[in-house]
Amino acid sequence: MIRKEIENLLYESAKKQNIQGEFCVSFSSLPNICDFQCNSCFAIAKKLGTNPLDLANLIVSKINNLNNHFNFSVAKPGFINISLSKSGIEHMAKTLNNISLDIAHGKKVFLDYGGPNIGKAMHIGHMRSFNIGEAFKRLYKKLGYEVICDIFLGDWGMPMGLIMAMLEKEGTLIDYISCKKTLTLEVMNIAYPKASLLKGQDEKFKQRAEELTLAFQKKQQPYYDFWKKLREVSVCEIKRVCKLLNVDFDLWNGESDANQYIPTVLKIFEEKGLSRISEGALVVDVAEKGEQIPILKKSPDEIQRYENPMPPLMLQKSNGGDMYATSDLATIYYRNKNFKPDILHYFTDVRQNQRFVQIFRACKKAGISPQEQLLWHTGFGTVNGKDGKALKTRDGNNMRLNDLLNVLYEKAEQKLVENGVIYDQDLKRKIGNAALKFADLANSAEKDYNFDIDRVLSFEGKTGPYIQYTACRIKSILSKAPKFEENYSFTNDYQKNVLLALNRMSASYKICFESKSLNDLCASLYDVASAFSSLYNACHILSEQDKNLQSAHLTLIKLVLKFIEDGCYILGIEVPEKM
Ligand code: ARG
Repeated sequence: MIRKEIENLLYESAKKQNIQGEFCVSFSSLPNICDFQCNSCFAIAKKLGTNPLDLANLIVSKINNLNNHFNFSVAKPGFINISLSKSGIEHMAKTLNNISLDIAHGKKVFLDYGGPNIGKAMHIGHMRSFNIGEAFKRLYKKLGYEVICDIFLGDWGMPMGLIMAMLEKEGTLIDYISCKKTLTLEVMNIAYPKASLLKGQDEKFKQRAEELTLAFQKKQQPYYDFWKKLREVSVCEIKRVCKLLNVDFDLWNGESDANQYIPTVLKIFEEKGLSRISEGALVVDVAEKGEQIPILKKSPDEIQRYENPMPPLMLQKSNGGDMYATSDLATIYYRNKNFKPDILHYFTDVRQNQRFVQIFRACKKAGISPQEQLLWHTGFGTVNGKDGKALKTRDGNNMRLNDLLNVLYEKAEQKLVENGVIYDQDLKRKIGNAALKFADLANSAEKDYNFDIDRVLSFEGKTGPYIQYTACRIKSILSKAPKFEENYSFTNDYQKNVLLALNRMSASYKICFESKSLNDLCASLYDVASAFSSLYNACHILSEQDKNLQSAHLTLIKLVLKFIEDGCYILGIEVPEKM
């Protein structure tokens, strides 16, 4: 908002001198010289065939009497530097309180994130989808969107058939079906990995698992009811983890809910002449001009390779089985029927990028998604341990999401004990989550990153706990402070730097929306926390004798707390009272 104001001043001044041009103001790259800068004179001068330095001088010479909030000056060879005056600082502080972030104009967005699979333990990838998706849900709401979100469970595939086949092989399936034995998560967690291994070794077992999968998919009893039971136990566990992670959903649908729409969707493709049979399977071509160009084979038995590969999307396997993609198409079909969102936004592993391009194109071709609807996919990279290899548990197994949470919460508790903090049970969860979420969101989404549990839990540096700690420190100061009147007369550089950091943070929400990544918000939160720390170290807020200066400090840190709480809320980080 402040930058917009400066841009307008420049624009008006130029207009007065019959100069047309767009002025773009950014935060200063040399904060000890100025607060903001504008480099637009180079492009405008080039267009007009004049010298940028003369142009900058001309514009600035007429501007200083237009306002008293900003001081403009020119630097060779044509930069405009802008500094805030005392009134400008006060003005900026007041505008920070009422920045409008509504960019949605009544639009509706449908989010698809999480996507855990029933019957299988959740892995680290699911945590990324939960964290990023949940933060986007909160961001969309902040930006004024109406939001609906669906966890989209993988609940209609082979894992459930595999579990059934394993229990059947062990002779206990019948007891679980008749409720003689109680089905628990533990039973599933043991049966699935065993079955998954056996599938690769025993063709007969694999066939039986496929039969059982088909049986519940065709709603044959008792398998369909048993599938419901498996789903219920799994969902209960997923809900427990979501609660720990401070994540929630409006809809708990899954692939199984899409199933009934698959015939309709296949018919749409067929009637529009979009699907064709290829090697027994039903496919739809989605390549555009310049893609899927065959590379000349050197010998007839060499496999065909392609330049810019964009293979057709498979709708149905040669054995008639439905595909994961078909579920997604059917899901888009019924989401549009029921909710008519303006945007559909998905969050999955980056390895599904091409798959989503295929699905989105197929939807547009078939008219399942209206032309004006935006279909977005945010792919995220892999999380590894600090050595760059897959995260492992102490006994050397691949770390599951639940293991990771346990380790994090345990270590957070150790830290609290070391620091001699009196804590409740929920505090370790809040700190563990903050460590996890900040690390997960501070990297640009699509990149892989290494996760060093001890580093992310540190109360210092670019970490979630550091941000929480800063907020707690401010809360503590405010609780001890005398009563004060709001005072926006900020006089020292520490205060100004805090305000500039807040101003930058207020621009961050839209930047995150545009870049589809939350790293800018994490970086801004860290800058706000460090600007506050500098102020805190340099100024003795509680013992300040100058009452005017003290009330300005207190006004400012109250604003900082509000900004940190707002930012943390978007990231899904809970701010404790004490730590
Ligand atoms: N269940 C899938 C998996 O674990 C993720 C689902 C993502 N969402 C979607 N609409 N396909 O890989």
